[in-house]
Amino acid sequence: MTAAPEIRRLTTPQDLFQAAADELIRAANDAVQQRGRFTIALSGGSTPKNLYTLIAANASVLPWDRMFFFWGDERYVPPNDPQSNFRMANEALLSKVPVPPANIFRIAAENPDAAAAALAYEKTLREFFDVARGEFPRFDFILLGIGPDGHTASLFPETAALQEKTRLVVANWVEKMKARRITFTLPVLNAARIAAFLVSGTDKAAILHEVLEGKGPDEKYPCRLVRPKEGKLLWLVDRAAASELAPAV
Ligand code: 6PG
Repeated sequence: MTAAPEIRRLTTPQDLFQAAADELIRAANDAVQQRGRFTIALSGGSTPKNLYTLIAANASVLPWDRMFFFWGDERYVPPNDPQSNFRMANEALLSKVPVPPANIFRIAAENPDAAAAALAYEKTLREFFDVARGEFPRFDFILLGIGPDGHTASLFPETAALQEKTRLVVANWVEKMKARRITFTLPVLNAARIAAFLVSGTDKAAILHEVLEGKGPDEKYPCRLVRPKEGKLLWLVDRAAASELAPAV
């Protein structure tokens, strides 16, 4: 049963990132207490950088040796490239906290064969979560962003990855960017215990209104297709991003 999304409106970006940090810290400690570990897939782009910095500043409240870090998507660039989602998270968070390097599972996007890089990451997920073909890993927390076109992770509108029903990770050609991306598929996102969108700023106001209140077809907005089957869907948005939404009731 897919629960209704929880849309939490925060005032300032600082309030937004603090709310996201609180949610992540709570989920991490709950997961470790209940299951002995916390598995998280990080998102890329620019929005989460402030969250990662805040988490690093609150490192003492987290069980780092029981936390396991993955990425929901990666640009098809080496890890030291300014565009790399790994590089951003490593600089803002992972290099600043006592997480064991063995707990960090980077997408090897330097592989000259993007499909092979996706397959290798899929193999990593299947082994870590002990899931066979046809089964999907259940992340405790998947952090997501939303692009101006409604994409999330690297699931862009009208791209092949949106149709994938059995693979966990694929290389996805994005025509409008003339670029490949490596991304989780929708079944992995929808297996999450918590899928949390983090949306900040006026440049997201129009797309957030379309996604949450518009009448267009779901397929036009990949982030609308994120509906965890047995998990929590959380939209954390600041006032600027929510400025085109109907007033909260
Ligand atoms: C990426 C992200 C992507 C991102 C959105 C929003 O690799 O870029 O995973 O899905 O979350 O594009 O990006 P911003 O936070 O930079 O607006």
